[in-house]
Amino acid sequence: MKYRIAPSILSANFAKLGEEVQNVVAAGADIIHFDVMDNHYVPNLTVGPLVCEAIRPLVQVPIDVHLMVKPVDRIVPDFARAGANIISFHPEASEHIDRTIALIKEHGCKAGLVFNPGTPLHYLDHVLDKLDLVLIMSVNPGFGGQKFIAEALNKLRAARQKIDASNREIWLEVDGGVKTDNIAAIAHAGADTFVAGSAIFGAKDYKSTINTMRAELAKQ
Ligand code: DX5
Ligand code: ZN
Repeated sequence: MKYRIAPSILSANFAKLGEEVQNVVAAGADIIHFDVMDNHYVPNLTVGPLVCEAIRPLVQVPIDVHLMVKPVDRIVPDFARAGANIISFHPEASEHIDRTIALIKEHGCKAGLVFNPGTPLHYLDHVLDKLDLVLIMSVNPGFGGQKFIAEALNKLRAARQKIDASNREIWLEVDGGVKTDNIAAIAHAGADTFVAGSAIFGAKDYKSTINTMRAELAKQ
């Protein structure tokens, strides 16, 4: 199993974001997770395409844009132009899920669908063959530093079964409350891509935290 660590910039120091992103990649990050909040779909406000465009030339790794915005479609082309590689959205935030997936792909990005803790996986039923990524939220979206909701492990197992049955390469990402002490159990439930905000950016030494996560994953 190939595991990927995706630090979330939400917990980075925004006053020196470029440096933070470069440091976390130097420390071993596989992906940059870019949280976009609109103070409408979620009760918080973060960053948009201009900031994505600004960090794009600083790193080679994929930028994984997690849209917590409603509506979704208007902003998709802007993020594609800003250098996003993966764009994920919440089914509740799009009136036409299949159309939004197509829009993301038409703009040359990989497409992901995101499941809040209370959102059923049945949204996958008719679109799984078009997705590149399934993102299971293990906290309610809006803030970093929240506690991992254990029910997400059951949802990860169910999503893993669906993905394996599809026979396609679809990443299974988890987001919220991922730490060095629970990452092994989360991987065991089926996740292969791990968003971690406060666990990495809140640590003094990014490299040793990422190394500890990899050591935990190697126990699988
Ligand atoms: C929450 C965001 C997460 C957040 C995770 O709405 O989608 O990506 O940054 O933060 P931690 O890892 O601190 O739970
Ligand atoms: Zn996120």
